[in-house]
Amino acid sequence: MARVIGAVTTSHVPAIGAAIAKGRQEDPYWKPFFSAFGKAREWLAQAKPDAVVVVYNDHGLQFFLDKMPTFALGAADEYCNADEGWGLPTLAPFRGDAAFSWHLIESLVADEFDVTSCQEVLVDHAFTVPLQLLWPEGCRLPTVPVMVNTVQSPLPSPARCLKFGRALGRAIESWPGEQRVLVLGTGGLSHQLDGPRAGFINRDFDLMCMAKIVEAPEALGRYSIAELVEQAGTQGAELLNWLVARAALGGRVSRVHSNYHVPISNTASGMMVLENSI
Ligand code: DHB
Ligand code: FE
Repeated sequence: MARVIGAVTTSHVPAIGAAIAKGRQEDPYWKPFFSAFGKAREWLAQAKPDAVVVVYNDHGLQFFLDKMPTFALGAADEYCNADEGWGLPTLAPFRGDAAFSWHLIESLVADEFDVTSCQEVLVDHAFTVPLQLLWPEGCRLPTVPVMVNTVQSPLPSPARCLKFGRALGRAIESWPGEQRVLVLGTGGLSHQLDGPRAGFINRDFDLMCMAKIVEAPEALGRYSIAELVEQAGTQGAELLNWLVARAALGGRVSRVHSNYHVPISNTASGMMVLENSI
């Protein structure tokens, strides 16, 4: 059967995509951020995933405020990128695996998560930038976009996202193939892009989340969305994607690598590599 070998969680700020496009990785502003990904790529080189399930939130490219699924999965053999307004260059299409996606969708629905199935998905910076960070030469592995609503109220609660992640893990591991699957959770950590608290960052809360997510993610499941937004900022709710990715692993994981660097654009950037113990 397929196996979830581990998870990488990382911020997905569009400015990172612009820095990649301009070759700014060695600039003093960017170096502390980009250099952390060398360790993640070393781990990938020995972990050798065959497929990547990318848990992220769409930012108005594929879904807008008029129609907003809580949880949605792509089910296509290819996903095109487009620019939702940040001016990033459009990347070549990413590979999908429609048969694997449909298995995940069927398994999740049977497990009482009534996800939206999407036979076409335009992928935005939250999908592309993390894949560029992990595979600068281009990710050639098949991908599955898993979109979580972290944008428009009502958001799924942290506890619900942990349950969804566990169901996603069960779905992956019931696929009758030999794939070694990486789950990539994108977004966060604390940030708020608009309103009176624009620029808000909460280092203590972020570091607490990075500690708890390894051994006690259920502690993060106790937060309400209002408490999460108060502690992490409105866009800090993207932590929900990290919770889904973490919960897709088994109960016991080991932390292979992590990095926290503030700020990247308006965001407290965090990155973790978690290996599944089972
Ligand atoms: C920024 C962060 C995000 O998560 C995002 O989706 C867009 C912009 C920022 O910090 O600029
Ligand atoms: Fe975002």
